[in-house]
Amino acid sequence: MTTRVHSLLRRQLKKYFGAAPDVPREWVGFLEAVNAAYQEFDADRSMLERSLDLSSQELLHANSEMRAIFRAIPDLLFRFDQDGKILDYKAGGTADLYLPPDKLLGRKIQDIPSEHVGNKFYEATQRVKESQSMASFEYALMLHGQEFYYEARLLPLLENQFIAIIRNITSRKKAEEALRESEEKYRTLIENINIGIYRTTGDPFGHFLQANPAMSKIFGYDTSEELLGIGIADLYRTTRERMVFLAEISEKGFVKERELQMKKKDGAPLVASCTAKVQYDADGKMQWIDGVMEDITERKQREEEILKTSKLESLGILAGGIAHDFNNILTAIIGNLSLARMTAEPESEVLNRLAEAEKASRRAQDLTRQLLTFSKGGAPIKKVASVTELLKDTASFVMSGSNVRCEFKISGDLWPVDIDAGQISQVIHNLVINAQQAMSQAGTIGIRAENVMVGNETGEAGLPLTDGNYIKISIQDQGAGIPEAHLDKIFDPYFTTKEKGSGLGLTTTYAIIKRHDGHIAIKSKVGAGTTFSIYLPASKETIEQRGKVVEKHVTGKGKVLLLDDEQIVRDVGGSMLLHLGYDVDFAKDGVEAIDHVKKAEESGTPFDVVIMDLTIPGGMGGKEAVQEIRKINAAVKTIASSGYSNDPIMADYKNYGFSAIVPKPYDIDELRKALYAVLAGKND
Ligand SMILES: Nc1ncnc2c1ncn2[C@@H]1O[C@H](COP(=O)(O)OP(=O)(O)OP(=O)(O)O)[C@@H](O)[C@H]1O
Ligand SMILES: [Mg+2]
Repeated sequence: MTTRVHSLLRRQLKKYFGAAPDVPREWVGFLEAVNAAYQEFDADRSMLERSLDLSSQELLHANSEMRAIFRAIPDLLFRFDQDGKILDYKAGGTADLYLPPDKLLGRKIQDIPSEHVGNKFYEATQRVKESQSMASFEYALMLHGQEFYYEARLLPLLENQFIAIIRNITSRKKAEEALRESEEKYRTLIENINIGIYRTTGDPFGHFLQANPAMSKIFGYDTSEELLGIGIADLYRTTRERMVFLAEISEKGFVKERELQMKKKDGAPLVASCTAKVQYDADGKMQWIDGVMEDITERKQREEEILKTSKLESLGILAGGIAHDFNNILTAIIGNLSLARMTAEPESEVLNRLAEAEKASRRAQDLTRQLLTFSKGGAPIKKVASVTELLKDTASFVMSGSNVRCEFKISGDLWPVDIDAGQISQVIHNLVINAQQAMSQAGTIGIRAENVMVGNETGEAGLPLTDGNYIKISIQDQGAGIPEAHLDKIFDPYFTTKEKGSGLGLTTTYAIIKRHDGHIAIKSKVGAGTTFSIYLPASKETIEQRGKVVEKHVTGKGKVLLLDDEQIVRDVGGSMLLHLGYDVDFAKDGVEAIDHVKKAEESGTPFDVVIMDLTIPGGMGGKEAVQEIRKINAAVKTIASSGYSNDPIMADYKNYGFSAIVPKPYDIDELRKALYAVLAGKND
């Protein structure tokens, strides 16, 4: 035999044919076939063995992999039978276990946690049994005084067994809850904040995609839904405003605190401040606009008010500046006119001309005053007076040359009032002029004046006035009336609907009435007319009759010192004083005046009266000199005179050491009255 004999065959051959087998020739072929079969069998076996070896290794490998994965799973695993009895478990960490491990085995899974959770397990098991697929549910447990959340997945195994994979989802739950809470917080914030928050489309018409309640409140809509239903272009006052806004935001991609002229649902104007940003899609196309919006209407109004006031103040400063010079010039004009009037022939044409010139000069004086009411400290120089004559004179003055008539209804027993006659006449003037201007055709302006009591049961109520006696002056026209929307603006400085109006008439009126502790009220109906009513507190004093006693040609006696820095005032003042019968001396400033008073005192011919200009630019005025003069001559009467008719000293002269005032410009009559007032009794 040439081939290698298989070991098994060799053993058989040794057994049958001895150690040195002599195999019969006829057996060789047979034995060779047997040997080949053995060899073949061997080869097969070793192949089988090799493959077996391999698969068991793989099995081992897979097994260890499974174990590793199994160990790595943080979850808690239970295997249980169809009754819920726990067969074995794998704890994800003992902290996760509701009971120690030895107490778990053999117990029913539905009996371990609370009844509520147990039921959930039982129900899920039934579902899995039926469907032979996974079921999952969540539950919460209190462990060591803390709430934990779990997610359970139940899977079917063979032989009616189940596996429960239980995952601790506490941190996820807590994170979700925190997120929900913070979402809720922001949602509440967005719902309750006063700032409008929105998302809109960016097309010209535009509509809202989202809007918070503040947004609808700003625009006067009842609900967000209502706002979402309207076109954004409708919220703008003009289409142009919308287009400009869109162009700007499209170009820059954002706007910051952009002021927008918008309107509310009822059409009322609204100024909004808008900060917005364009959101783009992946292709860089505008997707929508996100923004915040704030109603700044009131703020804008306040700012404008401040601006108006400051404009008014600068107007006042300017007016104050020119008033001084202006009133000095007017003193010269009016003083000289009054002097000329005295020397003119009675009933002569000259007298009429002079009267006209004087009237015009008084109008110039009124204009100066109108401006001065705006400057600081325009305190009225109040005197007890009746408004009857003042009403008639002022109204008639305004009406002259017009085809509008005035109808007076003035109560005969009208209480006197403490007023600055010049300022109140200005008020009447402004109101009557407005009434006249409101009536394009001829008509009647009703002017009434009556006594009213404010506050008590029978009197008028609901007025912003302290209780007491007032006179009520009403000026009623049959003009066009004032539209509702204008009513709260007519007192604003510069508010006018007239082509040539300055819009200062009612502003001045308001300021004057307030300074008289009074009140002004309006009633107006478009097409039917307007009534302005003024309330002025009644005076506690009665009107002194003294003025009437003064006869036109009564002259005075005494020595007067006239202090003024203006030559023209000294000239006309001196002439008037001489005309009235006084001896006159002059001083250009306070220092000179004090010197004169001292010398007169020393020479035994003291002054009876000193008329003092209050402010002298670059020098000592009457305000500073008065105390010094009084020290030298305690008996001297001092009269304050100022071109600044709104100088607070003029309203409160007694406290500054003056006996009387004579505001510039004055005529001979006013000068005489002032002198008579301080010298009354002395000359009698
Ligand atoms: N009697 C009235 N009837 C109708 N509208 C009035 C009347 N009085 C005032 N108004 C309205 O109030 C606005 C403001 O009045 P105001 O007197 O302050 O200014 P003005 O008359 O326009 O200008 P100015 O008086 O400075 O010349 C007027 O332009 C007008 O629109
Ligand atoms: Mg006016």
